[in-house]
Amino acid sequence: MKIGIDQISFYTSHYYVDLRTLADARSVEPDKYYLGIGQEKMAIPAPDEDVVTLAASAAYPLKERGELEEVELLLFATESGIDQSKAAGIYVHGLLEMPSRCRAIELKQACYSATAGIQLAIGFVARNPGKKALVIASDIARYELGSPGEATQGCGSVAMVISADPRILTIDAESGYYTEDVMDFWRPNYRSEALVDGKYSTMVYIHALLESWKQYADLSGRSLTDFDRFCYHIPFTKMAEKAHQKLCRKCKVDIDREGMQALLEESLRYSRITGNCYSGSMYVGLASLLDHADEDLAGKRIGFYSYGSGCVGEFFSGVVEPGYRDMLYTDRHINMLENRTELSYQQYEDIFNYGVPTDGGEYVFPQYKTGPFRFSGISQHKREYESLVD
Ligand code: CAA
Repeated sequence: MKIGIDQISFYTSHYYVDLRTLADARSVEPDKYYLGIGQEKMAIPAPDEDVVTLAASAAYPLKERGELEEVELLLFATESGIDQSKAAGIYVHGLLEMPSRCRAIELKQACYSATAGIQLAIGFVARNPGKKALVIASDIARYELGSPGEATQGCGSVAMVISADPRILTIDAESGYYTEDVMDFWRPNYRSEALVDGKYSTMVYIHALLESWKQYADLSGRSLTDFDRFCYHIPFTKMAEKAHQKLCRKCKVDIDREGMQALLEESLRYSRITGNCYSGSMYVGLASLLDHADEDLAGKRIGFYSYGSGCVGEFFSGVVEPGYRDMLYTDRHINMLENRTELSYQQYEDIFNYGVPTDGGEYVFPQYKTGPFRFSGISQHKREYESLVD
């Protein structure tokens, strides 16, 4: 049975900071960000957005098209969860008015958990072929102001339906995966900003890639030249390019600048102007590739490398289905990105420092520009959400 991605929708905040503005504030050459790490803008969530509103807004177009009707499993992947107990997906289930016959659970392993969600969803669909799973990756990437990671912040969410006979991408059975206990990036429960050993994290990312690839190649018998495109986890776009270069070197495959562009460039466009969104970032890459490739990708094999610090890496692959373009939300994605509002440095810092009140009082949050849902306030430690659609 073919199982894979039947729907994919991406959503990010309506606000961003140009990294030239950040470079100016930090007295850094803008080219360090634009060229050195390959990032131009970072999406900043308004105070009335959180991982729930990002996720519900990413999934809303699927609901509008009636694509959530057979969903009986909701897997919410996030590094930036909002409650130690309740799964953020339950709020999304409520906002989207999904049927009560549904399992909902939250998954965590830094930026890797959406891939775990997809693999678990494939198992669910194999056992229940008429049913579907909704996997949502939703994150807000936050590092300390002035830290080396600051320019790699961002936010966003990707909602994907996993089903039998998928209309976008069939996922191959073979997969290589690798776990090792390392401290390259982590966030203790009492912190709202991640801690990271930046240079070390890039080395572990690559080490886990080479290990995952070795297993994948042994299991599948495929080589690097069997792929038409690659989607990498994208903490910053230069990381994907560096990783692919290393993989090519390891596999003794020659690749020049143009060859690299042809394999990766379409997948990096959204991330370059939105930044890291941890668990969703590789899938933002997939949405970007599908939305931007001029060539019809039907029948083409895509290689995926998912990485979550701490760490778990996984290399897997999929084949694009004929007619996939009819399933995409390209116009919606492009319209959303073209209509964002740029923030000044001071506005960015004010939003960064805006904390959710923790005293159990009653608070109504000011309304910013959001998608169909907003985080409207908090009362007695309970988050309140507002739907802006009928
Ligand atoms: N013009 C052009 N390039 C310039 C430049 C200029 N004026 N100034 C500097 N550069 C280049 C540097 O040469 C360097 O390129 P190379 O890596 O090719 O040498 C690049 O810009 C970055 O410069 P630095 O290495 O000096 O940057 P830094 O140390 O200040 O920060 C970072 C880089 C460590 C990756 C930092 O952004 C960081 O900590 N990021 C967060 C962690 C992260 O994203 N890790 C990725 C792997 S872990 C993961 O993937 C999980 C996850 O999502 C977090």
